[in-house]
Amino acid sequence: MKELEGKIALVTGASRGIGRGIALVLAEKGAEVVVNFHHRAVEADAVVDEIRAAGGRAFAVQGDVSERDDVKRLFDEVAARCGRLDILVNNAGTSRSQDIFETSEEDWDFIIKTNLKSLFLCTRRGMEMMRVNRFGRIINLTSMVAHRGAINGHCHYAATKGGILSFTRTVARTGAPYNITCNAIAPGIIETDGLLATHGPEGVAALAATVPLGLGKCRDVGLAAAYLAGEGGNYLTGICLDVNGGMYFH
Ligand SMILES: NC(=O)c1ccc[n+]([C@@H]2O[C@H](COP(=O)([O-])OP(=O)(O)OC[C@H]3O[C@@H](n4cnc5c(N)ncnc54)[C@H](OP(=O)(O)O)[C@@H]3O)[C@@H](O)[C@H]2O)c1
Repeated sequence: MKELEGKIALVTGASRGIGRGIALVLAEKGAEVVVNFHHRAVEADAVVDEIRAAGGRAFAVQGDVSERDDVKRLFDEVAARCGRLDILVNNAGTSRSQDIFETSEEDWDFIIKTNLKSLFLCTRRGMEMMRVNRFGRIINLTSMVAHRGAINGHCHYAATKGGILSFTRTVARTGAPYNITCNAIAPGIIETDGLLATHGPEGVAALAATVPLGLGKCRDVGLAAAYLAGEGGNYLTGICLDVNGGMYFH
């Protein structure tokens, strides 16, 4: 029997990048995966097809995880189709290439809402479902910037990633009586379209040169998530796994 057989996992922002990588690994380990996406329906369907082609179970659900009504619809659909939720990966996130002088109030509000409010909305609803079964594994995508600040601006993004760490530790305490763990993953530099769009090819190459193990793959983050969701994560809560190829120690 596969380690995550019988588990239902919801991965937010799983149409591409790290979310896609996490969805593929969780499915490979036996979980049925709900592939949430915002705009990229074709890509989300391709992730579902890839999982099914490998013998796994998955379906896609559209929803902006920073909007209360969308989150309600998303979790209602999980409840209706699966009857439970065991693993929630709060992965959806974004940034805008700006330093503080270039950041408008609208930019600030958008990044805080997308990266942080989404976490609150999804975690609250996810925990309501998980506590019924007295089991849950919540995994939040923070970033290396939560520890050391962003390298070139991105103050809004850095603020959300720092907030996610503190949120994770707090929810870990709230969830413990229900056997709900809550942990964070802080990737370093992972090869994704989002990273390329934010830093450009030259910026990514310059960043990669600073990493002892080179650029990370989405699968590397997926494997870390599967560890936290599986038996290895049973007694881990409130921690942050630094998946950064030796780029940064703290
Ligand atoms: N890549 C890195 O090196 C790196 C490093 C540290 C931390 N991270 C974190 O890892 C996570 C994933 O990063 P990534 O590089 O894989 O990003 P990405 O390639 O830009 O993909 C972002 C994903 O999030 C989804 N998304 C964005 N806003 C959403 C919303 N409001 N509702 C639902 N889904 C939404 C997108 O959906 P659609 O495409 O359907 O719109 C997409 O699937 C983020 O939290 C990021 O901060 C990444």
